[in-house]
Amino acid sequence: MPGIRGPSEYSQEPPRHPSLKVNAKEPFNAEPPRSALVSSYVTPVDLFYKRNHGPIPIVDHLQSYSVTLTGLIQNPRKLFIKDIRSLPKYNVTATLQCAGNRRTAMSKVRNVRGVGWDVSAIGNAVWGGAKLADVLELVGIPKLTASTNLGARHVEFVSVDRCKEENGGPYKASITLSQATNPEADVLLAYEMNGETLNRDHGFPLRVVVPGVIGARSVKWLDSINVIAEESQGFFMQKDYKMFPPSVNWDNINWSSRRPQMDFPVQSAICSVEDVQMVKPGKVSIKGYAVSGGGRGIERVDISLDGGKNWVEASRTQEPGKQYISEHSSSDKWAWVLFEATIDVSQTTEVIAKAVDSAANVQPENVESVWNLRGVLNTSWHRVLLRLGHSNL
Ligand code: MTE
Repeated sequence: MPGIRGPSEYSQEPPRHPSLKVNAKEPFNAEPPRSALVSSYVTPVDLFYKRNHGPIPIVDHLQSYSVTLTGLIQNPRKLFIKDIRSLPKYNVTATLQCAGNRRTAMSKVRNVRGVGWDVSAIGNAVWGGAKLADVLELVGIPKLTASTNLGARHVEFVSVDRCKEENGGPYKASITLSQATNPEADVLLAYEMNGETLNRDHGFPLRVVVPGVIGARSVKWLDSINVIAEESQGFFMQKDYKMFPPSVNWDNINWSSRRPQMDFPVQSAICSVEDVQMVKPGKVSIKGYAVSGGGRGIERVDISLDGGKNWVEASRTQEPGKQYISEHSSSDKWAWVLFEATIDVSQTTEVIAKAVDSAANVQPENVESVWNLRGVLNTSWHRVLLRLGHSNL
């Protein structure tokens, strides 16, 4: 590919922040300590989780790099970075969450396959770039198109990285044409993250950001956009990132029986304390994040100290000092809310958080009910154990 290449080994990986918890080195997968997530509404780039399936691509010559638009369109064309930058620029604050977030807790119930994540395979960033809907208009597909007379119904994003799951081929995923051409869906071809040029780990020079949808569809290091009839047949759409019922195991799995996961469900996690943390008797601040997919707002975050019999409501914010109102024009619809509640601890206590979204979807009580062999979408009530200790312990 002119300008960009996907190496086959890991000798040219970018530098990374030392406080990241590395879950796999090759390919590099890491998450920040959970406390880092609640120190700011917008997650700093170097502390943003990193989920890769191959070595990080290298850009040799940015001016030669282009994205090919092809497939069921009249006039395929190449767009250079200057062409993308000349389109109207949008800044969209959106939370990206890996479908495997909180997988480690799911694997405690029964073994699951996949990278072991704690609660930090999630981050909130301001993504800057062009809207995919504007880009598709350049090749003759109008806004709000669900299908075309050439039979197009899906838009596939193909990268340049080399993934073993694709037998050394590139990562790919797709979304529907109706989502891709809907300006309100805010699907971006992003070249900036938090006001800076996108870095290598997060997709330099160009990545897709599909707000409200599991991170797997936000393809990094974009090489081509294919307008197609059926959804992408890539591994990560067809043989991964699907939610199976607890009864399915590796002997009876039928991948084609389930749809690729798109929107993520309502989720929350406590981040200001670790699970099993010593605290002194008295007031403890419980802070965390809550987020839902599909642009649904967070209606409530409830905290319980008695196993779910009684609940108190936590306060919610996005921008500090500004009250968050779910589904309101002043709120970032694709972004998480940070919640906070102060509790009084006089004995060893399990603290539980559960969020409710604007469609009244609620997190499930137990991880057992959502257990699945790939360990995706663990959105069960989040629990941390505070053990009472004394300062001299
Ligand atoms: N895009 C490419 N090309 N290769 C990848 O391995 N991983 C996906 C997605 N896009 C991936 C990719 C997954 S599973 C997630 S969760 C997000 O990127 C992670 O994005 P981040 O590393 O910027 O946090």
